[in-house]
Amino acid sequence: MMTVNLRGGPVALMLGLCLFAFGGQAVAAEDDSVCLQCHGAQSGRLGDPVPAWESSVHAGNGVSCHDCHGGDPTDMAMAMSPERGFLGVPEYEEVPDFCGRCHVGVKDDYLASQHGKALASGGPQCVVCHDNHAVQRASLDLINEQDCSRCHDYGRAAEIRASMETTDDRISLLENELPPLHRVGIDVKGFEGEIFSLRNEFHRLFHTVDVEQVKRETDRFGTQLDEISGRVEGVKTDLAERKIWGGVATVLLIVAGILSWLLRRTYHDQE
Ligand code: HEC
Ligand code: HEC
Ligand code: HEC
Ligand code: HEC
Ligand code: HEC
Repeated sequence: MMTVNLRGGPVALMLGLCLFAFGGQAVAAEDDSVCLQCHGAQSGRLGDPVPAWESSVHAGNGVSCHDCHGGDPTDMAMAMSPERGFLGVPEYEEVPDFCGRCHVGVKDDYLASQHGKALASGGPQCVVCHDNHAVQRASLDLINEQDCSRCHDYGRAAEIRASMETTDDRISLLENELPPLHRVGIDVKGFEGEIFSLRNEFHRLFHTVDVEQVKRETDRFGTQLDEISGRVEGVKTDLAERKIWGGVATVLLIVAGILSWLLRRTYHDQE
């Protein structure tokens, strides 16, 4: 096994950033990747990563073999040369830095957590929970008795999941309020943005695996959600009032029309 040269981190991070900026182009370039061509034709330990990766959230977002492992995806002969930035396969304890080049916030929370602190003594790292190649979109389903009771009992894990589900459910409810408003012409981008960033902040929280902190933050997110909810309700009330006044205005117009017709007729009759 080759070890990762973590001093290559800043370069790799910049590559990662370029990748975020030019996501579309990265996807287009994938077809030409020599990593995929050569490994796709291998079997076993060398070939298995390809189909596993193809089903992953990374493949879907243009993060390919070389984005994680380094190397040169355009040069068949030199692809895995260390001079071309090839990092090889990370050791167990190197994985958080390996994934953390792109997932910086998650890495920081993880390293400060009880799991991160137990890394050298068998604590779980990223691929234990997310897999290495078949990484899927994360959800609270990753917290389950089977996976989380391999090293300790499930009690505290269950508490975190229950607490986080409260917020998750509330976010979904609030998100469902927006499309009907959007359909009647209300600009909901502001609300969407606020919910999006709150959701991001919230979903990072798990990696602290700090039950007390998760509970505190659940309360804080609850207060923030109440506040956004209040404003969404306000918009709905305005809308209902506008409908009523719109109705009143229509009735008044009709009445005015009838009156003016009657007036005109009376005038003609008098002539
Ligand atoms: C021409 C075929 C070929 C190309 C192109 C190629 N590989 Fe490999 N790769 C191999 C073979 C064969 C091995 C196993 C022998 C070895 O480790 O050198 C391997 C091993 C690996 C390993 C495991 C190394 C280890 O230490 O166990 C990784 C990771 C890897 N390749 C990633 C890549 C990436 C990323 C690219 C593109 C930048 C790439 N490969 C391009 C054939 C290829
Ligand atoms: C999201 C990052 C990521 C991507 C993308 C990725 N890998 Fe890996 N790969 C890893 C990690 C992490 C390991 C170490 C696995 C472990 O410790 O469980 C690994 C291990 C490997 C190994 C060694 C497997 C073994 O059993 O020894 C090979 C070969 C490999 N990757 C090839 C590839 C190829 C080919 C691609 C593109 C189809 C790819 N990887 C895409 C992260 C990635
Ligand atoms: C080169 C940058 C890069 C590296 C390295 C990387 N990722 Fe990712 N990862 C991404 C991008 C880009 C996405 C898609 C972003 C999005 O839409 O949320 C993503 C998405 C994810 C998701 C899904 C996020 C969600 O919203 O549910 C998980 C989980 C994940 N990565 C875990 C890992 C793990 C584990 C590793 C290491 C084995 C790793 N990543 C390495 C760039 C990277
Ligand atoms: C590979 C082993 C391993 C796996 C798998 C694992 N943990 Fe842990 N976990 C540890 C270690 C080691 C600690 C450090 C404290 C200890 O020894 O209990 C810890 C600590 C914790 C703590 C803090 C303990 C406390 O009492 O507050 C929580 C919460 C936790 N883990 C949740 C989870 C969840 C949720 C999962 C599944 C997604 C999980 N763990 C999977 C090894 C593991
Ligand atoms: C003990 C299991 C465990 C470990 C270890 C772990 N994760 Fe996670 N991760 C989860 C769970 C569970 C979620 C889903 C949390 C949620 O839905 O709120 C998650 C969510 C994520 C997300 C999505 C966050 C978002 O914004 O939606 C990313 C990215 C991610 N993890 C990457 C990593 C990386 C990188 C590492 C290593 C530094 C890592 N994870 C270590 C269990 C783990």
